[in-house]
Amino acid sequence: MKVIVTKNNEDASKKAFELIKEEMNNGAKVLGLATGSTPIPMYQDMVNSDIDFSNMTSVNLDEYVGLAPDDPQSYHHFMQVNLFDKKPFAKTYVPDGLATDAEAETSRYNKVIADNPIDLQILGLGRNGHIGFNEPGSPFDSETRKVPLTESTIEANARFFDNENDVPKFAYSMGIGSILKSKKIILMAFGSAKADAIKAMIEGPATPDCPASALQNKDNVTIILDTEAASKL
Ligand code: GLP
Repeated sequence: MKVIVTKNNEDASKKAFELIKEEMNNGAKVLGLATGSTPIPMYQDMVNSDIDFSNMTSVNLDEYVGLAPDDPQSYHHFMQVNLFDKKPFAKTYVPDGLATDAEAETSRYNKVIADNPIDLQILGLGRNGHIGFNEPGSPFDSETRKVPLTESTIEANARFFDNENDVPKFAYSMGIGSILKSKKIILMAFGSAKADAIKAMIEGPATPDCPASALQNKDNVTIILDTEAASKL
């Protein structure tokens, strides 16, 4: 695991975009993409660049169960607005939040991942150490599945909704095992609210109690932090 500490999220995002370009120059065709506030400046850099993504495929990490693709709170909508509307990709995949047959949807998505092996996966980090929506306790070999969200995640994500009760209680999430199959991984985390999770991820034992600690001892993983997120290392 390579850890890069930058001054702020702007510098961090530029660094992450440089690594994306490097991988694309090396032939990467499939990007694993993440939502949340963390990757937004990097998506802005991508949008403002002259790089063409129209030959690229994207596979997103997760989606809230129950939200339609055009729901303003859905991750599908987030990706459209922040990236795909301005930088079209050849093909984009996000789990279907409206799928009612969880088993069919999760096996469909596992096949999407198998058919489109991820060259570079972008990750954010939950305050409790989650990656995607793999909450504490998620097995390191897990594949896509329907997962319940923890109270702390519902509370943290309530800021994007009118009311905490509107935050879905379940999500479809790519599993940790699927994430680990990516050829390369970049995890970004900014702000002091992530400092404990960063410490547990990098210095704590590798345990499902901190899902991101599954990335420990992997030389294909780059962690990009701002000084606040790195403050407890
Ligand atoms: C959500 C997403 C994660 C994301 C996390 C952190 O729970 N499922 O993929 O990393 O939030 O969000 P933020 O970047 O807004 O702190």
